[in-house]
Amino acid sequence: MNPTPLDRRPEWAALAARCEALRGRSLRDLFAADPARAERMHVEAAGLFLDYSKNRVDDAALRELVALAEAIGLRGRIEAMFRGDRINSTEDRAVLHTALRVPRDRSVVVDGEDVVPAVHQVLARCAGFAERVRRGDWRGFDGRPVRNVVNIGIGGSDLGPAMACEALRADSDRRLTVRFVSNVDGTHVAEAVRDLDAGETLFVVCSKTFTTLETLANAETAKRWLLEHCGGDAAAIAKHFVAVSTNAEKVSAFGIDAERNMFGFWDWVGGRYSLDSAIGLTLMIAIGPAAFGELLAGFHAMDEHFRTAPFERNMPVLLGLLGVWYANFAGCATHAVLPYDQYLARFPAYLQQLDMESNGKRVTIDGREVTWHTGPIVWGEPGTNGQHAFFQLLHQGTRVVPADLIGFCRSRNPLGEHHDLLMANLFAQAEALAFGKSAGEVRAEGVAEHLVPHKTFPGDRPTNVILADELTPAVLGALVALYEHKVFVQGSIWGVNSFDQWGVELGKVLAKKIAAELTVTGEPALAHDGSTNALIRRYRQRRRG
Ligand code: F6P
Repeated sequence: MNPTPLDRRPEWAALAARCEALRGRSLRDLFAADPARAERMHVEAAGLFLDYSKNRVDDAALRELVALAEAIGLRGRIEAMFRGDRINSTEDRAVLHTALRVPRDRSVVVDGEDVVPAVHQVLARCAGFAERVRRGDWRGFDGRPVRNVVNIGIGGSDLGPAMACEALRADSDRRLTVRFVSNVDGTHVAEAVRDLDAGETLFVVCSKTFTTLETLANAETAKRWLLEHCGGDAAAIAKHFVAVSTNAEKVSAFGIDAERNMFGFWDWVGGRYSLDSAIGLTLMIAIGPAAFGELLAGFHAMDEHFRTAPFERNMPVLLGLLGVWYANFAGCATHAVLPYDQYLARFPAYLQQLDMESNGKRVTIDGREVTWHTGPIVWGEPGTNGQHAFFQLLHQGTRVVPADLIGFCRSRNPLGEHHDLLMANLFAQAEALAFGKSAGEVRAEGVAEHLVPHKTFPGDRPTNVILADELTPAVLGALVALYEHKVFVQGSIWGVNSFDQWGVELGKVLAKKIAAELTVTGEPALAHDGSTNALIRRYRQRRRG
């Protein structure tokens, strides 16, 4: 029997009516009527503090959102994920990134097998290898220690470790140069290696499938570069290349000894959920196994909170439900993530994959077209830079963009008054976005009448403020897990499979076909549309042959 479509549920209708009723009530009104709302509308977990009082909701709306979560069976979905049920039904897989961070003494049984010992075995191998590199015991072809680590991967095999290496730079070994190559554009790999000494360079080739075009092209180029610099000695490959993958066969075919130089993971770890698997190897080399362990502990603390806290006190559930409120009832198409920390510069890009590859879906798990909006467009930049770029639109544009502002009470680089200025800006922006500045207030400042509309701020722009004491490995782990689970909550409400990504396939197939057409000798018989045919012909005429 088909379940009731989401938008025919009574809870959905109640929320639509509630949103309509609240339309006339500004955040100013809500705060005036309920000055204590900030004392209630916050939650603390795993080292993170979330103030969600500056959302256009009241207690009744929150209750109804929670009721929707209950009605769609969110509690059961959470349990099913943690238990290892095959909730990724279109790929027939369990979804168990949470098992990557459970302590050694716990067990998670999948298909009759406890996966925790294997998880910790791989972690220990990664740690052993990372320590050898960090101590200078892992030597290159001419006997010198590794000083440069180049991670080759794309999507989940790049964005997570790249984001985290940047985020935890303060914890990293500064003697190591760590770089990331992802784009198939040769410029990326060329620039990454141009000033490196091959004898001191280790490539960590990360690919879950080990079939990804970009990663294989970059890894082949890196291999050629190494061979050019070591006199063509193929034995050097074993000293300069390691792989992280689930596909030992392909790793061996590439020329990496899968037995000794491959670190594995499992098909129940989705690419965009793999930072805390062996995919984090480059990060582990950079920050060390102990700090990596703290990161995992942070993830796990948020997992425990998500699994056990009642929905009305559950941080990922609240963030997820508030996102549903804006996406489905308030007509907001995008969501901004604005970290007030330069170390989190790559966090929005990381979240784009996590969120948009997970919930950018148009059919439900059982294949029916949805009649409600699913994943929002996620974007962002660190504050305060964004303030001097796109915040104008956030404050005075015609569209409402809900935003998460993320900040820390203590800087990893306490320099004079920098941090107070940074945080003053975070708090100021959240205040200005929420409460704006009325025409009356502008006039009271003596502003000329013709400028009043220009200087008026409507306010009512919702924000969540997420604060932590300091950007440590544990806090980063909790933050990533928070968003992983937020995405899960939303995918569960929308009824989509958040763990497949069929939408990336069509372009890949077409690119393969077109790549052959671009280089074949003689005029190819092109059978694309008129535009694509003409573009290919033009490129063929002008490309460097
Ligand atoms: O094309 C999308 C994707 O499959 C992502 O989901 C994944 O993170 C990325 O490509 C890289 O895949 P792999 O780790 O198998 O190289």
